[in-house]
Amino acid sequence: MITQHTHSDTRRLGRLRRTEPMRALFRETRLSTADFIQPIFVAEDPSVALPIAAIPGVRRWSLRELAAHARSISNTGVQGVIVFGVPACKDPLGAAAAAHDGVIPRAVEIIREHAPTLAVITDVCLCQYTDHGHCGVLGDGGVITDATLEILSDVAVAHAAAGAHIVAPSGMIDGTVAALRRGLDQSGYAETAILSYAVKYASAFYGPFREAAHSSPAHGDRRSHQMDPGNAREALAEARQDVAEGADAIMVKPAGPSLDVIAQLRATLPEVPLTAYQVSGEYSAIAAAAANGWIDERAALLESLTAIKRAGASAIITYAATRVARWITEQSEVRP
Ligand code: PBG
Repeated sequence: MITQHTHSDTRRLGRLRRTEPMRALFRETRLSTADFIQPIFVAEDPSVALPIAAIPGVRRWSLRELAAHARSISNTGVQGVIVFGVPACKDPLGAAAAAHDGVIPRAVEIIREHAPTLAVITDVCLCQYTDHGHCGVLGDGGVITDATLEILSDVAVAHAAAGAHIVAPSGMIDGTVAALRRGLDQSGYAETAILSYAVKYASAFYGPFREAAHSSPAHGDRRSHQMDPGNAREALAEARQDVAEGADAIMVKPAGPSLDVIAQLRATLPEVPLTAYQVSGEYSAIAAAAANGWIDERAALLESLTAIKRAGASAIITYAATRVARWITEQSEVRP
């Protein structure tokens, strides 16, 4: 008796993969231009509006150049931007962060005027603004939570007053979402949404960003407030707490190394809008390998972003947002 190659209770799964049209019909996850948020680094001092070596293809923009840049992002079909400010002056308290005529408020006004269809998200953190590079006011034992929360609330109000649709606190300081919600509501910005960096790991993949934003801590690191990469159950606690404090949406970062966490949050808190950030080191690792001829950049970007969406993220922040959006509009089907 000859052994059967397939049993009646199994199926040759490869049958539906034989041609590209068949694969397209059965593809579960596809990327759309509306999935992406483009980060923008805005330099208050135009002399530092330069390319960022550690994030190939990305640069800091001056306020003067920003109108045209925002329009060109909007023209690709990308719907959202997240704005990071690089201030001209730093001090121990990060005072420039809360200035109503600071770099982010001015940038927001320009983007709202010249690219009115974009959703404008702002980064709310002090690390670019403090001379020590930490994410809050420093005391003997590190960042002082309560003093920092007061400042962060003022920062969010300054961004909202300039027209930010969404403020995104990225410092992982306990109580930030509640403090921001209170501050925004009391100042008449009840409609401004909060996208919380709820699950932000203390990650080596942020290295290139710190060159871009001039935000490396002068000493020490951020392990006392960012999450330990070994922890996933704690991620659920962080997410639940931020939602309870009033977060309208939450974020996981870095995205690629945290796909399990994204999937778990999607399953456990299905009603919470979930975003993910493909951070600088993830993007730059792909770009550097591609520059060496070791990897196909386009395929690797599409595969990594598809995986982030497949894991359960809705919007994805990526330095490749506008490039991927162009690939999507040029072709009816993009695949890795
Ligand atoms: C802090 C902030 C960081 C990133 C976004 N917001 C850096 C950090 O926590 O050190 C990293 C993003 C990236 O690497 O692309 N304001």
